[in-house]
Amino acid sequence: MSRLRFLHAAAVVAGIAAVVLAPREAATEGGPQSVPAVLNGCQLCHAQYVTEWADSYHGMAWTDEVYIAAKNATPKDKQASCNPCHVPNPTQTVLGKAPTLRAKNQSEGVACISCHQIPGAKPEEIGTIVGPYAADAAIKSHPNKTDKSMETDPKTCISCHGTDKDHNQYDSWKASDYAKDGKTCQSCHMPAVKRAVFDKKGAMPREAHKHTMPGAHDAEFVKKAATVEASVAAGKVTVKVTNSGAGHNFPGGGEREVVLVVVVTGADGKEAASYRETFDLRKKDNRLKPKETRSLDFDAKAATGTVKVRLLYKLSPEQDETKATVAAEKEFKF
Ligand code: HEC
Ligand code: HEC
Ligand code: HEC
Ligand code: HEC
Ligand code: HEC
Repeated sequence: MSRLRFLHAAAVVAGIAAVVLAPREAATEGGPQSVPAVLNGCQLCHAQYVTEWADSYHGMAWTDEVYIAAKNATPKDKQASCNPCHVPNPTQTVLGKAPTLRAKNQSEGVACISCHQIPGAKPEEIGTIVGPYAADAAIKSHPNKTDKSMETDPKTCISCHGTDKDHNQYDSWKASDYAKDGKTCQSCHMPAVKRAVFDKKGAMPREAHKHTMPGAHDAEFVKKAATVEASVAAGKVTVKVTNSGAGHNFPGGGEREVVLVVVVTGADGKEAASYRETFDLRKKDNRLKPKETRSLDFDAKAATGTVKVRLLYKLSPEQDETKATVAAEKEFKF
């Protein structure tokens, strides 16, 4: 969908990195004297993170065509209410509360500073950077605040993923076994990788985390969310749909729609029956809770034949169904 736009954005970011990388060696204790306004200079020393972030929907939160279309379809007087989460000021000082609108560099969407920065006096300053590592002599390039909970607690995510009904993964996660077992948003969406965090030759490899944030747009990731089982007995098709892998409601967001499609083909090869069931937030929230199994019965309308069950994940109700991700499927003869 917005692949091209996004590749373009990535190319621009890479271009910027290439142009401004030179002063990196000038980094001294206390940080660089001045940083480029773009991305507050993070790309000077963390280019890998910038590349991953540009590939994420955080990096595209403001330029995303799906977002722009949805906003334009919202009544004019409500449109301004959409902007703060899609182009947010730093949230470290308001953790758990909804963010405010960032006026600068809006095309950067949910920028590095949105999650990591305690702002300095001027918007283009690096400010104090909050991160999970313990205070370390290696971190000299910017003032630093250690917050272990960035790894162990989802509070970094709540401002935007837990303060509004349409975009809330936090509440259903909080009520789940995942929360009790200490499996956080980061555990699933920010997998650990061992790598150097600072782009300098010889920088020490660290326990680090990918910033690509796979979600609804990543078919392989969506396939981890659900499983289907089906059987036929006494003229009934019984389908069991389980949210086996999403740490929150499935589907995770209010924009999405999951559709169960059941088709029975008789022994003569003709369609005997077909059924649809929708799971979403719209009319009443009937999404699948974490680890919940929902059992549904349908009339088989054939004595023998084939049952085909598919669980489609749609980015919006309007999405062309042939483009939906098949989250799970099953086919068998009876
Ligand atoms: C509380 C913060 C917040 C507010 C306010 C907000 N959004 Fe979002 N938006 C998000 C988050 C978080 C996501 C990520 C997916 C999800 O939670 O559904 C998102 C995703 C989306 C998507 C899906 C984009 C895609 O690529 O598929 C659309 C469309 C969208 N928002 C539209 C809007 C509109 C329109 C408004 C105003 C009426 C709005 N949002 C207000 C946080 C917010
Ligand atoms: C001049 C180079 C430089 C710039 C510019 C820079 N950083 Fe860093 N950053 C470092 C170094 C060096 C470390 C420590 C790496 C290590 O110890 O392996 C670090 C560590 C970090 C950490 C981990 C800190 C912790 O306590 O866990 C985060 C998060 C971080 N940087 C984010 C940012 C962000 C966001 C920006 C842009 C606003 C930025 N950095 C700009 C050099 C820089
Ligand atoms: C400052 C606001 C903000 C914070 C904080 C934030 N997000 Fe997001 N996130 C968004 C917005 C806005 C989007 C949707 C962008 C779009 O598609 O237009 C999004 C999208 C995502 C997506 C991709 C959704 C998709 O549709 O594919 C994932 C996954 C995600 N966020 C996870 C996280 C996690 C995990 C955290 C905490 C570590 C977090 N976010 C913190 C605002 C935020
Ligand atoms: C949506 C919020 C969010 C955004 C945006 C974000 N980060 Fe992070 N970042 C995190 C979280 C959460 C952690 C801690 C992950 C953990 O420990 O499990 C982290 C960790 C880090 C670390 C420490 C090492 C590691 O990988 O754990 C660095 C360095 C870092 N981020 C740099 C950046 C840079 C540079 C950007 C912008 C290109 C950026 N981050 C954008 C949330 C974010
Ligand atoms: C056990 C793994 C797991 C945990 C824990 C988890 N997620 Fe997810 N998440 C998934 C899977 C799988 C999907 C894709 C299916 C879906 O939409 O539910 C997903 C989807 C998403 C989406 C995209 C939804 C949309 O409509 O675009 C966002 C945003 C998200 N998660 C944020 C979070 C946040 C925030 C937390 C913590 C409060 C979290 N996730 C915890 C596995 C997890």
